[in-house]
Amino acid sequence: MAPTKTPDAPSPTLTPTLTPTLTPTLAPLVAAIRGSAVAVTEPSKPKSGQASLDGRWTIDDSAEIYQTRLWGKGFFDINAKGHVVVRPTRVLGHEIDLFEVVNGMRERGLNTPVLLHFSDLLERRMRDMREAFNAAIAENNYRGSYFGVYPIKVNQQRRVVEEVRRNGVELGFGLEVGSKPELLAVMGLTTDSPDRLIICNGFKEEKYIEFVTLAAKLGRNIIPVIENIGELKLIVEYAKRLGVRPKIGVRMNLATPGAGRWRHSSGVKAKFGLSLTEVLETLNYLKERDMADCLQLLHCHMGSQIHDIRQVNAGVNELTRIYVELVKMGAGLKYLDVGGGMGIDYDGSQTAFEFSTNYSLQEYASSVVYKAMSVCDEEGVEHPIIVTESGRAMVAQQSVLIFDVLGTNRPDRSPPPASLAGLPLVDGELPRPLIDLWELHQSISERRLLEQYHDALEAREEAMRLFSVGYLTLEHRAVIDQLFWSISARIRDKSKDMGAHMPEELADLDSTLSDMYFCNLSIFQSLPDIWAINQLFPIMPIHRLDERPTRKATLADITCDSDGKIDRFVDDHDIKKFVELHEYEEGSTYLIGAFLVGAYQETLGDLHNLFGDTHVAHIKLDENGQWWVDEIVEGDSITEVLKYVQFDATQLGAEIRRECERAVRKKQLTPKESKLFMKIYETGLAGYTYLEPTRTISES
Ligand SMILES: Cc1ncc(COP(=O)(O)O)c(C=O)c1O
Repeated sequence: MAPTKTPDAPSPTLTPTLTPTLTPTLAPLVAAIRGSAVAVTEPSKPKSGQASLDGRWTIDDSAEIYQTRLWGKGFFDINAKGHVVVRPTRVLGHEIDLFEVVNGMRERGLNTPVLLHFSDLLERRMRDMREAFNAAIAENNYRGSYFGVYPIKVNQQRRVVEEVRRNGVELGFGLEVGSKPELLAVMGLTTDSPDRLIICNGFKEEKYIEFVTLAAKLGRNIIPVIENIGELKLIVEYAKRLGVRPKIGVRMNLATPGAGRWRHSSGVKAKFGLSLTEVLETLNYLKERDMADCLQLLHCHMGSQIHDIRQVNAGVNELTRIYVELVKMGAGLKYLDVGGGMGIDYDGSQTAFEFSTNYSLQEYASSVVYKAMSVCDEEGVEHPIIVTESGRAMVAQQSVLIFDVLGTNRPDRSPPPASLAGLPLVDGELPRPLIDLWELHQSISERRLLEQYHDALEAREEAMRLFSVGYLTLEHRAVIDQLFWSISARIRDKSKDMGAHMPEELADLDSTLSDMYFCNLSIFQSLPDIWAINQLFPIMPIHRLDERPTRKATLADITCDSDGKIDRFVDDHDIKKFVELHEYEEGSTYLIGAFLVGAYQETLGDLHNLFGDTHVAHIKLDENGQWWVDEIVEGDSITEVLKYVQFDATQLGAEIRRECERAVRKKQLTPKESKLFMKIYETGLAGYTYLEPTRTISES
């Protein structure tokens, strides 16, 4: 059963409401005065297009079935041409037509699948975060400040980290690392700004600690967060040896249970973090060495995609209570690091549903600031510097994966025959299940739909049993399949009027009878969370949106793995088991986008079936709102993926050449055919791992 969305949880009673910096009504006016295009501050609600009343399909109808404007949050919409557009800065008119971008890529010789990154959108998100916390701080007269740190594990692509670093100079964002490779990358990227906050989570060995302590001596604003007492002892030892007073952080294992899929990131059984006893032990250890002032940061991580604001409130409350107690005991704490976890509204429902959030960015910021402030005020403790490690909420929206459809499989592709005449007889008659299905097919009645569906299932089961013992022929079986699918389709169509009374089995017919669209992508490489954790991403065609979609479909990728499929889609009140698509004509271009895929997908992706990284294009807007391609990173070639698994393409090519020569000697191939064979092999090795819609058989 698909989980049902729960309605919004009540807003926290203690959280003050904030006046937005620019109200939606003022925004267009201010933008007009500035002479710029109009800022979209609120996602416009989907509405049925006027034209659809006369039966014509409109882009508003498309926006409604795909919920585009709800999960799009002003960043994604549909233009008059029926194409999806991205508005990276949320400014009307400054938009990027995705269909045009893909055409532009093709003109440059780059085929789909392609991952598009919109760095202006990333910058907008960073500004949104900064503005939300600034507003919360101002509203509450909070006396501390705010720093965001970007955990690079969420998307370590160089361009993304560089953009965060660049925007971070103005917006005060630092970086968080969880491993040695991440630390070395970040250190190399931040040489020009030593004061940039770098937080080091994760397990650390002695060399790591020595390096971090030296970095502190170098003048870097770096805080190792200790995961166990062993790390603490090493830090203290190196600090003494190198004559540094390091900043030290501790990760606290909160008692407040986590929520959602990553709930075990928090609570007593969490993999990371110190227990309260260990935190006290840490403080005492430092006090005994006159280093209590070095304990500067208290951290927790409550899990990812936190969907309910009440969990944020409870977690920040507990963390701040511990913070104030530690301060009173002499710790030099300055930073309150509430970790990551801010969620993304993947389905646009704005509910406490697993793939949504019942809070906005502003409400998140207000809750964190208000909770931290009220607990500190109660205890008379100075307001700390608030740190967040939000990753998903920062980068998810900036990437869109676009892939093409290669073909379809429709259960109704062969209609049943007009009569059963001519089918082989068994013992002088037609087999019983075949006759039963035939009669059912002639007599579907609105009053007995469920019963007739059960009869059809039973007749087909019996037919399969008879086929397996050799009683039915292939011809019989083919007609039985045709009749069964045709009966099911009729029952589905006739059951449409049952509304709320529709039995679940009949409601499921929509998905049972849906088409399969074969798509040029690997779920394991590009959308691994769909496979690994049933993640829901908005998925929809990026063109033809002024045309009624007449098919319902699930998607299958090109790996040879039955798990390589997508059968869960965004819906307004649940999860749909199909997505509405347009009729696909063999050989035509039909493009589908998977949205909000900028967090965790790229590095978690794997090489299943040796499908490699897709092409990546970084698209930017100029000051006039025109888009341009800032950088293209070509995807893996077949030679590259073969190398990952220790194959040497040169050696493979030499083996094939020898085989060709043997075939020429035996006259199995002409020299010209052998040359063609070699050419296709060699261009294949240099080419994309995905299917390319060009003819490979060419004149030599
Ligand atoms: C310590 C820490 N901080 C931050 C994050 C980022 O979380 P999110 O992407 O949910 O904001 C994670 C993710 O697992 C984490 O482990």
